[in-house]
Amino acid sequence: MRAVTVNAPSGQYEVKIGSGLLPSLGAEIRACTEAKRCAVIAGENVFPLYGGIAMTSLRAVGLEARSLVFPAGEQTKCLGRYGELLSFLAENRFTRSDCVIALGGGVTGDLAGFAAATYQRGLGFVQVPTTLLAAVDSSVGGKTAIDLPEGKNQVGAFYQPALVLCDTDTLSTLPKRELTAGYAEVIKYAVLGDRALFETLQNREHDVPQVIEKCVKHKAAIVAEDERDTGLRRLLNLGHTFGHAVESRSGYTLLHGEAVSVGMAMICRAACAKGLLSQSDFEAVVTLLRAYGLPTETDYTADELYDTLLLDKKFSGGKLHLIVPREIGRCDILPVTPDELRFWLEAGLE
Ligand SMILES: NC(=O)c1ccc[n+]([C@@H]2O[C@H](COP(=O)([O-])OP(=O)(O)OC[C@H]3O[C@@H](n4cnc5c(N)ncnc54)[C@H](O)[C@@H]3O)[C@@H](O)[C@H]2O)c1
Repeated sequence: MRAVTVNAPSGQYEVKIGSGLLPSLGAEIRACTEAKRCAVIAGENVFPLYGGIAMTSLRAVGLEARSLVFPAGEQTKCLGRYGELLSFLAENRFTRSDCVIALGGGVTGDLAGFAAATYQRGLGFVQVPTTLLAAVDSSVGGKTAIDLPEGKNQVGAFYQPALVLCDTDTLSTLPKRELTAGYAEVIKYAVLGDRALFETLQNREHDVPQVIEKCVKHKAAIVAEDERDTGLRRLLNLGHTFGHAVESRSGYTLLHGEAVSVGMAMICRAACAKGLLSQSDFEAVVTLLRAYGLPTETDYTADELYDTLLLDKKFSGGKLHLIVPREIGRCDILPVTPDELRFWLEAGLE
């Protein structure tokens, strides 16, 4: 088993990564929380696969376990489901010393985490990620959220879990398209700050728990410096500015990771056109994304994407922070005006 400690200013916790960890969930929760009762929150695809193991493991160490299962998909991250989850906790008389367990991908983690952050002003929370994206990104760092009809992640809280338990065996049942999309975030960490990881990924036969550990270490280091996303944490948005525009334009038919892949290729292309990234590093990034079956092009025009960007993105002080790769393993945070953003966007599409 591999373990990474996250030293977030609001709390320290372990991210445990490895094969066969799920049956130890109960013992792990006993070791790091005071909980007597646990609410296992899962999606309809995940609960039949792993809910039984989780519930058995909790009960085996004397924890009382209840479960609530939601439909799969982004639409579950909504006010209605959030309300249902709060009612479930209240009806079952959960108290602040109890624990909410998110068993699933980022949707489950974000929704359950936000309920855990807000029910009675916060109760114990444990993340059990079952997608690659959740393992390397959403389960770590304490961002929780639900969507509003007006936009994604519009209501949320920073709320760190007490533990992240990542059983890498669960990835074996993940649909291939979801696994591939998760690799976009993995490649993001490599481009951001780890050329050695980039080279590891060029070998498709890599050790998955080791790769997850490397990504989590990167995220942990950033979260320790900037938990509330006011500076360094912006680096994690590499590929996301243009990626979100592509994702939104596609009406969310593209998965988040697929859109991030397009966004990463675009920002690398633009950085290369502006002489900030070498042609060989640009080509290496695009080649790696394609090797994992990820898209690197979009048919949307600069006009279409720019309109979406202006609608979606918050400019603080008239500027938006663009993450610009300088070489594989090093990126800059560049504040740009809306006009400058337009130039970057056009350069990313050429
Ligand atoms: N909080 C954060 O820091 C953060 C970061 C990135 C993304 N997110 C959020 O994460 C969400 C996306 O998360 P995701 O990509 O994990 O998608 P997801 O949670 O929707 O899961 C993807 C699909 O895979 C299924 N699934 C999950 N695990 C499975 C398994 N082991 N076997 C079989 N099927 C399985 C799910 O039922 C779902 O259909 C978005 O809402 C995004 O906003 C949050």
